[in-house]
Amino acid sequence: MPLKILGVGGSMRETSRSTLALKIILEGSKSFGAETKLLDLRKYPLPFYDPSRRDDTDEHNIRRIDQDVNWADALILASPDYHGSMSGTIKNFLDHFWSEFAGKTFAYVCTSHERGLTVMDQMRTAVRQCYGWSMPYGASFNGDQGFDEDGLIVNLALERRLKMLARDLVIYGKIIRDQFLSDIASDEVATFAARYRG
Ligand SMILES: Cc1cc2nc3c(=O)[nH]c(=O)nc-3n(C[C@H](O)[C@H](O)[C@H](O)COP(=O)(O)O)c2cc1C
Repeated sequence: MPLKILGVGGSMRETSRSTLALKIILEGSKSFGAETKLLDLRKYPLPFYDPSRRDDTDEHNIRRIDQDVNWADALILASPDYHGSMSGTIKNFLDHFWSEFAGKTFAYVCTSHERGLTVMDQMRTAVRQCYGWSMPYGASFNGDQGFDEDGLIVNLALERRLKMLARDLVIYGKIIRDQFLSDIASDEVATFAARYRG
């Protein structure tokens, strides 16, 4: 079964560099056999999370995005560095979903003038809280130094890292996905996945 990867673009900027890097990882992961979808939250914005309206799935893009999140075995979150944290767009996405993340592997991309480590750590913390698994490294870069004005990648080290991340996400994401599905299918009681049996 190929790994299904959903890339989530968390910048509202039309010329977003984090979204460009995300697209490169998605393309790269296809060459390792993954199926991919891009969820650009700029094009499919989610309303601010409101728990009292969560079941109204006909509203806005919630139903479509819900299907994409459930379809995915692994996700890539791409966020600009906003005050050392993830964008509100990504945080709002994470507020909408949580039970769907169990058994899924997450990778992180960040555009930052600094190193983006706090941004990726905060995304990791939120994902861990929802029982998702995280890649131990991410890709963080200065947007203006990574891509030229036409949106072409100019930083070879960055390109290599994005391809490495694509490869590793497919390999490790599959291991986590397959083990999680096998644990759900077994009748062993003392596994984390037991609580997710239907
Ligand atoms: C509200 C706001 C806060 C920001 N805070 C930081 C910051 O704390 N550190 C930083 O390096 N860049 C900061 N930036 C710059 C963005 O991280 C930078 O523009 C980023 O490359 C945009 O990514 P994008 O091209 O994917 O939209 C901030 C930008 C905005 C609009």
